[in-house]
Amino acid sequence: MASEGIKKDEAGASSDGGASSEESKKPGLLEQTTSSTSTSAEWLSKMFTGAMKLEKEEKPPSLLDAVTFEGIARYILSDKCKKIVTMAGAGISTSAGIPDFRSPGTGLYDNLQKYNLPNPQAVFDISYFRENPEPFFILCKQLYPTKAFKPTPCHYFIKLLEKKGKLLTHFTQNIDTLERVTDLSDEKLVEAHGTFNTGHCTQCLAEYGRDWMRDEIFSERKIPKCTKEECNGVVKPDIVFFGECLPKKFSQHIKDVNDCDLLIIMGTSLVVHPFASLTSRTRDDVPRLYINMTNTEKMDPLMALLGGGGGDFDFDNEDNIRDVFWQGTCDDGCQALADLLGWGEELKKLVKEEHARIDKQNSTEEKTVPTKAKV
Ligand code: OAD
Repeated sequence: MASEGIKKDEAGASSDGGASSEESKKPGLLEQTTSSTSTSAEWLSKMFTGAMKLEKEEKPPSLLDAVTFEGIARYILSDKCKKIVTMAGAGISTSAGIPDFRSPGTGLYDNLQKYNLPNPQAVFDISYFRENPEPFFILCKQLYPTKAFKPTPCHYFIKLLEKKGKLLTHFTQNIDTLERVTDLSDEKLVEAHGTFNTGHCTQCLAEYGRDWMRDEIFSERKIPKCTKEECNGVVKPDIVFFGECLPKKFSQHIKDVNDCDLLIIMGTSLVVHPFASLTSRTRDDVPRLYINMTNTEKMDPLMALLGGGGGDFDFDNEDNIRDVFWQGTCDDGCQALADLLGWGEELKKLVKEEHARIDKQNSTEEKTVPTKAKV
């Protein structure tokens, strides 16, 4: 089902991530909530659920010889599976030491009390940021991708899929840039929620590079300000806030999900749209593997109707022909899958060698880079 939300985002996607006041009026990043369901919305939900039941009767044959983790592994090794799309969220980076957003207790949104925000998500809300950018820039020091963070085995599994010629595209919601550290090809990588690589002035849209952004974020000045004459606008890193459009690259690669032979979803709660809606973009018979600590809540049918629907999995349905849930950490799930594929030792070796290389590079830089320039 084509989703209205995505269509609007495609139309309004901005490649530079800079948010003009005009852009901020367009519908953009949205968090799924289920609390505001009205009576008419419930009616719509029921109608939609009915329509889904009709669809069930027309299910195509399964591409898997068994709808299991092992069945997925055999499918990956077969000729039927040439184009894999991966989708990731904060859960793929928690073992690197970066907190996710919504895990109770440890997630970022449970630990923002000191910022006195109207709600935790406000720290990434473009309207709130325009009024009060300071909390975001305080938090930025914590979120900034420093060299202390190393990609996880899960990140290297994605790189291995590329090496094996199986990866079509990797979509990530993460702004930690750890995929780049694994040297994943730029043309395969879609940083759907932007990156710290560049920044833009919120007034005159002047672009600033990574080094300038980093130095400003870590300087004594509380808020990075545009240096262009008579501007003095706030300069915001090009990470996508709630209410902003996603980068153009996101809409350009949506077709890859329509075309893929397998979708692997890892470490995400699938509540932020339009990213989460990608799961419903595959062909109806395409297998979907979800590796996560917790099972995402069943998608609200109304939200599915309006936004396309992330988490519309068939795990518990009798006539499930394609959806497999592997519960546990992304690192363990990827290692278990790599073992079944016969790539287990290669993955371990890749992680070991790359971590050693990064450690060595960091220690060399520490010796040569003057203290002032360090982050
Ligand atoms: P969430 O924090 O919403 O979800 C992370 C998911 O990963 C949860 O379901 C956890 O149970 C799971 N998880 C945590 N650690 C894990 C591990 N080691 N192995 C497996 N699963 C693990 O993060 P996202 O889904 O990425 O947007 O959040 C989406 C967006 O919401 C973010 O990009 C961010 C946020 O608001 C913006 O800031 C614009």
